Amino acid sequence: MDSCFRLLLLVACLFPALVHCKLRQYNFDVMLKKSTKLCSSKSIVTVNGRFPGPTLYAREGDTVLVKVTNHVKYNVSIHWHGIRQLRTGWADGPAYITQCPIQTGQSYVYNFTITGQRGTLLWHAHILWLRSTVHGAIVILPQRGVPYPFPKPNKEVVVVLSEWWKSDTEAVINQALKSGVAPNVSDSHTINGHPGPVSSCSSQGGFTLPVENGKTYMLRIINAALNEELFFKIAGHKLTVVEVDASYVKPFKIDTVVIAPGQTTNVLVTADQNSGKYLVTASPFMDSPIAVDNVTATATLHYSGTLANTPTTLTKPPSQNATAVANNFIDSLRSLNSKTYPARVPKNVDHNLLFTVGLGVNPCPSCKAGNGSRVVASMNNVTFVMPATALLQAHFFNISGVFTTDFPGNPPNVFNYTGNPPANLQTSSGTKVYRLDYNSTVQLVLQDTGIIFLENHPIHLHGFNFFAVGKGLGNYNPKTDQQKFNLVDPVERNTIGVPSGGWVAIRFLADNPGVWFMHCHLEIHTTWGLKMAFLVDNGNGPNQSLLPPPSDLPKC
Ligand code: C2O
Repeated sequence: MDSCFRLLLLVACLFPALVHCKLRQYNFDVMLKKSTKLCSSKSIVTVNGRFPGPTLYAREGDTVLVKVTNHVKYNVSIHWHGIRQLRTGWADGPAYITQCPIQTGQSYVYNFTITGQRGTLLWHAHILWLRSTVHGAIVILPQRGVPYPFPKPNKEVVVVLSEWWKSDTEAVINQALKSGVAPNVSDSHTINGHPGPVSSCSSQGGFTLPVENGKTYMLRIINAALNEELFFKIAGHKLTVVEVDASYVKPFKIDTVVIAPGQTTNVLVTADQNSGKYLVTASPFMDSPIAVDNVTATATLHYSGTLANTPTTLTKPPSQNATAVANNFIDSLRSLNSKTYPARVPKNVDHNLLFTVGLGVNPCPSCKAGNGSRVVASMNNVTFVMPATALLQAHFFNISGVFTTDFPGNPPNVFNYTGNPPANLQTSSGTKVYRLDYNSTVQLVLQDTGIIFLENHPIHLHGFNFFAVGKGLGNYNPKTDQQKFNLVDPVERNTIGVPSGGWVAIRFLADNPGVWFMHCHLEIHTTWGLKMAFLVDNGNGPNQSLLPPPSDLPKC
């Protein structure tokens, strides 16, 4: 049935004028490439030798086939971050969750259809720390003839923000895991692959965005960094925010946007200033006493006709701990909620869940730097243990012993989450999932804990968009907080920051059968175990089941 369907689709796609469907085919060759930045060079893992990697373009409704071939010594998998993957979990990409990784010399074709989504997303490696250099943009244009719900920009530009380590990132994380303590922070941020001149290497060039007076540009900004939330601003120019995470928002003007790893933000910028050069900055946001890379990456907006010796108009990035600047952006986000793009917020809740997110400390006799203990992370005190068989396979083929379905819906120990830490900082561990019926509705409150530090955690849910219906500081109080939820036009996203010392409430409809990873998108927290998965059962209707796996699905 499935292969028959695909054949039909292939045939139908030969006549794109007749049906709204098109095939987009890409080859992603995962290969090593020598790269020089910050006045030193190293070999990095890339797609097609590029950093950032190639942009994947498609239109809403298109079927995308990406043949990924692994030419490096590491196992590899690629995730299409924010693509809903309706019934096609096999193409989602997180290693050992929806697939076994692609081994050296092997390839796998990711095959998915983009349904009901348009905007900017990102793709990235979803294994080890390879996503530090294996990432790129996904641009989903509206269907042909369908306009943007805002004035059409004169030009569109992809802006990928990232982090750069002078040393090999696999060595960085391996060293950290051995020691039990936090890894070294990166040496610089980058804008489209370039840090711009920094004190450690002044000859380092920066990305230049040429503009013409009076024209409007849409920047598709992506935070592909591993561990850092970033502020983005342009000297002398306002940003009109029109979309986040491939969902339209009510447009608003602002000076500075904040983007967490995994999030995307589309802004319109009009070149309405005097001709000249204007500084663009990407700088870290961290409002906890945690070390970050404080090197600001810079680029320039360059008006045509500007004389070469014109000095650049500068801007000062927000201070690292500027919570108010971040909140000013975050609290301005509302779903567009128009007739064409309604906000379908679930009004009733079948599963009312509360998950704590935070760190912990477990014994580790061999961890010298950690004095015999190591930092771990958990959700509801469970430090997730990666399985050796992909969860989706175990689910589909009924392989027992790979996971259990007893992930707790509420914290197993109730304490003052944002107050002084409890006496016992240890976590439990397991490969536990939370099971949901098809089409059930979920309200999930993500509650930060102060074990070690209160900290902002950008949580990403695979397979779904959710609505961020509420947010607050301190401990979530179901009696008083729920009444204040916005069920009309809350922002719709796939990655949401749990505020430092606070909570965020999200709602989603479990209309996608399969196994869906949820984790902190700060890669170090994922590594430490801040992750879990939802298992959504098949429905009874004709289009409500997970499709069977493709024949080239990698084996473990
Ligand atoms: Cu962008 Cu599971 O990740």
